[in-house]
Amino acid sequence: MRSWTYLSSLLLASAAGVQAITWTATPFNPASIPLAVRTPYLSAWLPQGAGAALNDAWPTFWTGSTLGWAGFVKVDGTSYVFLGTPAVSGTTFSKAVQKSSKFTSTQSIFVLSAGPVDITVTFLSPVEPTDLVKQSIPFSYMAVSAAATDGKSHTVQVYSDISAEWVSGDVGLTVNWNSTTSGAILTHQVQLSSPSVFAENSDHTQYGSAFYSTTNTVGATYQTGSDVSVRAAFINNGKLANTLDTGFRAINNNWPVFGLAHDLGTITTATVPCTQNRNLYFLSSFPTSASVISSFLGDYSAALSRANTFDAKVQTDAGKISADYAAVVALSIRQAFAATELTVSKTSAGAFNTTDVILFMKEISSDGNVNTVDVIFPAWPIFLYTNPNLGKYLLEGLFRYQASGQYPNKWSVHDLGASYPKALGHNDGKDEKMPVEESGNMIIMALSYAQKTGDSSHLQRYTTLLDQWTQFLITDGLIPADQISTDDFAGSLANQTNLAIKGIVGIGAMAQIQSLLGNTAKSSNYSAIATSYVTQWQKFATSTTGAHLTLSYGDPGSWGLSYNLYGDKLLKLNLFPAAVYNERKSAHFPFLSKSEGLNRNCMTHSECRSTLDTPYTKSDWQIWTAAIVTTTAVRDTMIGAVKKWVSDGQSNAPFGDLYDTVSGAAVGFRARPGTMHFYFSIGSITVTFPLVVGGHLALLTL
Ligand SMILES: *[C@@H]1O[C@H](CO)[C@@H](O)[C@H](O)[C@H]1NC(C)=O
Ligand SMILES: *[C@@H]1O[C@H](CO)[C@@H](O)[C@H](O)[C@H]1NC(C)=O
Ligand SMILES: *[C@@H]1O[C@H](CO)[C@@H](O)[C@H](O)[C@H]1NC(C)=O
Ligand SMILES: *[C@@H]1O[C@H](CO)[C@@H](O)[C@H](O)[C@H]1NC(C)=O
Repeated sequence: MRSWTYLSSLLLASAAGVQAITWTATPFNPASIPLAVRTPYLSAWLPQGAGAALNDAWPTFWTGSTLGWAGFVKVDGTSYVFLGTPAVSGTTFSKAVQKSSKFTSTQSIFVLSAGPVDITVTFLSPVEPTDLVKQSIPFSYMAVSAAATDGKSHTVQVYSDISAEWVSGDVGLTVNWNSTTSGAILTHQVQLSSPSVFAENSDHTQYGSAFYSTTNTVGATYQTGSDVSVRAAFINNGKLANTLDTGFRAINNNWPVFGLAHDLGTITTATVPCTQNRNLYFLSSFPTSASVISSFLGDYSAALSRANTFDAKVQTDAGKISADYAAVVALSIRQAFAATELTVSKTSAGAFNTTDVILFMKEISSDGNVNTVDVIFPAWPIFLYTNPNLGKYLLEGLFRYQASGQYPNKWSVHDLGASYPKALGHNDGKDEKMPVEESGNMIIMALSYAQKTGDSSHLQRYTTLLDQWTQFLITDGLIPADQISTDDFAGSLANQTNLAIKGIVGIGAMAQIQSLLGNTAKSSNYSAIATSYVTQWQKFATSTTGAHLTLSYGDPGSWGLSYNLYGDKLLKLNLFPAAVYNERKSAHFPFLSKSEGLNRNCMTHSECRSTLDTPYTKSDWQIWTAAIVTTTAVRDTMIGAVKKWVSDGQSNAPFGDLYDTVSGAAVGFRARPGTMHFYFSIGSITVTFPLVVGGHLALLTL
């Protein structure tokens, strides 16, 4: 995590006036641009704020801590830095000038001029939702190409390195490293000298290796050593010394870096966990790290071509809603996938069992829980859109654990384990308790997957569990007891209007599930219960004047964003009457009265509480509501507000979903049940909720 001082000074600078960027940014200048973003542990970003070029800041981990990743290009004997902000004493070099930045769903592309040459730096983090081997490879590409702008020929060499900051959250720890210096590929490998299996340090894995590789073409050179010595070798000579430093030491002790220099080529970086009881899926196809690196590097052109096809499809589909929406979606895709890791088990004979796939998701930035149901739920649209099987693999672990009978409560568990990557369950039943929320979520997602794919195998396998959760919703869904919802940061409240919708939609979804399973009597019973609950709910939840829905029953002046209606639309249940949706056209959407599209009123149910006077909203709930509003103007206003928030230059963190609706500042929190730790506005800690941005695809799934 960045220090308080550093962040607040950035925020103060932007408050004094957003500085104009000097390059073209397409589609806009986001708070943070994904560079190598593929898993919870391979997550490198360019923090931008109001605007930072590729060589204005160090890349950072999603938490904000620095990841040493430096790049120089030498043109006709003059060196230019193009990546990171290295200081190299005893040398002189210039700074390449950024001309453009662009992001798509899978790529971030920068063009910088280095004297008479323009270099194009492409960061490709593939998103391969339908190829489980490729999707699970935790590698990312950086490709650099150059073109003269004056029609003349120039000599060009390119250099880059990573530091050992990629392998731990504690720069005081000792690392060791080794390199492959012959054969078709040059690879540096670095890891902690004393790794800890299944451990994290400041959200970094403590049992992985970082690999930095490039093709070993003519003129390729390598060097390991202190940051200053290795970088100086390139700046002075345009190549590296092909020497290896074996003085293993702490990450911050003369900062060992792992350099590769080239006539222009493709460079990769990755972090790969060494051991775990479940294995990353790609290991079923690649027995060694050398073989996966070789395949990955050799696949660059094909991967780029697939990425372009994927980007174009997303752009076309999301562009049908609006250009703002397409941009928000493009910025969300890598980030959502990078919260996940695809795994397989081994058989007792030691072979990989590729029929046993579980997708794990880290609850990034709040508490690191494993497969949190109410975090999977908002991210659900991205899986429905790209590959619904991934959704099934996400639910599988939750179903399997609870079907084992180890979880004692009658409602659905909140998560599979308190601390990623350890999925140890909650056999004591003392997980973060969101009984109506999670029970409804599980049933809704299970039906949604079956509707999308026609595969009802898991509905059959886990009918008992689904029915058990439905019984709970029947007793506790219409009049929800005092409890938290997914917006746990708001604290608990009885009779939440929006939470009751979740419960009722869950019961209605189970009616459909029973019908799919051929149990018509149960199906009509649950259908009748859901319908009767809707009628009763309308009486409880409507304001005295009948004009709008309340935050909670019996609080007529309150107002809430009843985004859980999205489930009714997604599943095509049509439980709730049109009048409930039509509310969304009315003046009771308070933010509509402000020209900037955001007002300090109740964008989520939580901010309407008298105990909270600072207004905030969540971008995913805004997008979900945008998906169900009945007028295009309201929809576009809501999407525009999200785009405005992520492009206003006030934050430099990866897409956060929780923000102050007046100042536009990110709102961070460390969620604990029923407690609030808010840090508002200028000078605050900026932490984010990267992974729920999967919900930004909500409009693509209806
Ligand atoms: C580096 O050392 C590790 C552990 O001894 C070994 O598994 C790996 O193959 C070595 N890598 C290279 C690139 O030599
Ligand atoms: C592979 O995994 C599936 C799903 O868990 C399981 O049913 C099957 O028995 C496993 N196969 C072997 C050979 O272990
Ligand atoms: C919840 O709402 C029901 C129905 O209006 C009411 O009977 C009950 O007293 C409310 N509970 C609380 C804690 O306000
Ligand atoms: C309908 O379901 C409820 C809740 O499970 C149950 O109490 C009731 O007996 C059922 N009614 C019929 C007619 O089966």
